[in-house]
Amino acid sequence: MTGTTGTAPSKDHGTTGPTGTALGAPAERREGRQKVTGAARYAAEYALPGRAHAWPVPAAVARGRVTGVDTSAALALPGVLAVLTPGDAAGLAAPEDGTLAVLRSADVPHRGWCVALAVAETPETARAAARAVRVTYGTEAHHVDLTEDAPGGYEPDEVAGGPGRVEHGDPEAAFAAADVRVDVTYRVPPLHNHPMEPHATTAHWEGDRLTVYTSSQGGTTVRATLAQLFRLPEERITVVAEHVGGGFGSKGTPRPDVVLAALAARHTGRPVTLAYPRRLLPTVVGHRAPTVQRLRLGAGTDGRLTALLHEVTTHTSHVREFVEYAAVVSRVMYATPALLSTHRVVPLDVPSPSWMRAPGEAPGMYALESAVDELADALGTDPVELRVRNEPRREPGSGKPFSSRHVVECLREGARRFGWAGRDPRPGVRREGPLLVGTGVAAATYPFQVAPSTATAEARPDGTFVVRVNAADIGTGARTVLAQIAADALGVPLERVRTEVGHSDLPPAPLAGGSCGTASWGWAVHEACARLAAHPEEGPTVHADTTGEADADSPYARHAFGAHFAEVAVDTVTGEVRVRRLLGVFAAGRILNARTARSQFTGAMVMGLGMALTEHSTLDPAFGDFPESDLASYHVPVHADVPDIEADWLDEDDTHLNPMGSKGIGEIGIVGTAAALGNAVHHATGIRFRELPLTPDRIL
Ligand code: MOS
Repeated sequence: MTGTTGTAPSKDHGTTGPTGTALGAPAERREGRQKVTGAARYAAEYALPGRAHAWPVPAAVARGRVTGVDTSAALALPGVLAVLTPGDAAGLAAPEDGTLAVLRSADVPHRGWCVALAVAETPETARAAARAVRVTYGTEAHHVDLTEDAPGGYEPDEVAGGPGRVEHGDPEAAFAAADVRVDVTYRVPPLHNHPMEPHATTAHWEGDRLTVYTSSQGGTTVRATLAQLFRLPEERITVVAEHVGGGFGSKGTPRPDVVLAALAARHTGRPVTLAYPRRLLPTVVGHRAPTVQRLRLGAGTDGRLTALLHEVTTHTSHVREFVEYAAVVSRVMYATPALLSTHRVVPLDVPSPSWMRAPGEAPGMYALESAVDELADALGTDPVELRVRNEPRREPGSGKPFSSRHVVECLREGARRFGWAGRDPRPGVRREGPLLVGTGVAAATYPFQVAPSTATAEARPDGTFVVRVNAADIGTGARTVLAQIAADALGVPLERVRTEVGHSDLPPAPLAGGSCGTASWGWAVHEACARLAAHPEEGPTVHADTTGEADADSPYARHAFGAHFAEVAVDTVTGEVRVRRLLGVFAAGRILNARTARSQFTGAMVMGLGMALTEHSTLDPAFGDFPESDLASYHVPVHADVPDIEADWLDEDDTHLNPMGSKGIGEIGIVGTAAALGNAVHHATGIRFRELPLTPDRIL
């Protein structure tokens, strides 16, 4: 199913090691059967003896202070063990991440903030108790509206580890002098990660030893955070995250559930499970912050860019600064002598935004790739050709050479397979009864990121091997691909390798985030296994640590790239946009498991489809939080929304990454998808919609 195509350097799929190990082969997920039979245990399913349940009480005001908490009615309910109130966490050390400062003080920074926690014998009783708690507030005026001129905004010095602003040449003057100009503003609403498994923790104290079973993308960080908050040495804390039902960034940092569960367990002397109810998730999981993005593209009549200005306005909370770094993509994509890429962030009385799959890149490429399509229209140039014409030789923002870049090959191969050639560029002319049909294209990019990791490889007397690393398998197949990497490095069949992940007794490892998990853990796994294979006498257990290698600065700009092609039919009677075809072609280094990689790509493309057409959170100006608090009101795509969807890739041989030659694949699939769909809607209807999602009420 994979294509070794285009002009990209290629490797054979399923490269075989000395004894027939297939790295790249479509190995099945090792825990798949456990998951579909219910044998896999998730955080809330550790039914420890005597375990109690907690339920949060969300703040009912958007800004102010708790002036009183009356717990008498709640405590009078049979089966209620305790109600924790503001101040009960005052003895903990102050967290670095303000979203974890729950029950420390009476301040309410946003609606939904946890102001009390009921603990009871059953979840039902805990819920009833939470509802019986009477909280009174002193309120202050709140502001949750993001506008381009919202007061209090500032330019952050740093976003995503880089500068908040990049400016080359004289962008304003270059834009003013351009032959052809596009000056447009695109808007992306707040979006929410709704993993199938909610944020959940079961916490258990034995003396001064704490064990948490928690739903997390990175148990190593959870342990360090709990150690700091509870003033414990890390050795006294065990963090188990064996199976994780999705995260999409929302479980990349510890969330209040783990702090509250540990606090409640200590307070009651019982194991306590806190599984966040779906309706409270939108205020605690973080969200993709809304962005207002002004794009100015100036070009010569030859279609070459002379100016690219990308200015992003976004919001953060008063609890924690998070900047949706949407303008960084403009530093990567196109050659231009004059470049401006800036961010302005406005602190509002809103729940704290955070990572949601391809934070920055996903909204940023929606705006940039839509604007590029508008420029293609203005020039009368084919949008694939326009992109090819503006291909940079070095990364525009940094001036670094690319370690590998095959965006043109992805565009060409995608165009070939999609049947792009001969496309009638005129918008709004393909009618099928009440339907208008159109096609669109957009490019994709996501940075290669890698972090130091440790791992061990053990040779067992029976000829099998065990690889250990505290990786998180958030549904991606991490266990499986790590076993493939190990088997390849050891030169043994896959069946002889077992992997252990998701437990803090295992060697420390970075989180499953930033599409860096496999690239980072795999490096340490590869190193341990390669050494064990070369020097069996060092065994039976070899320990590897990639600190110093994995965190070394690279002289190369390292990114994965891709291209999306979409066909839509727009119903002129109902305003409904139906996707007919979606094709993504990616170049992401070496693909390590064809089956799980395809699943990552298509899964992210479906999420991009949701971003384009169905997903939408609104900030209610009166109440200050999100009305779309469940899956009946926050619409993620269902099977009926998802058409013939295809993902494929060009193999890249990039020696500047890690020993596997792999880039990340978790996030790039969502980058650019919404732009391809929006561009197809324009091609179908002749109308530019510049605000997502493209729901029927907007289309009509
Ligand atoms: Mo990703 S949003 O870094 O899990």
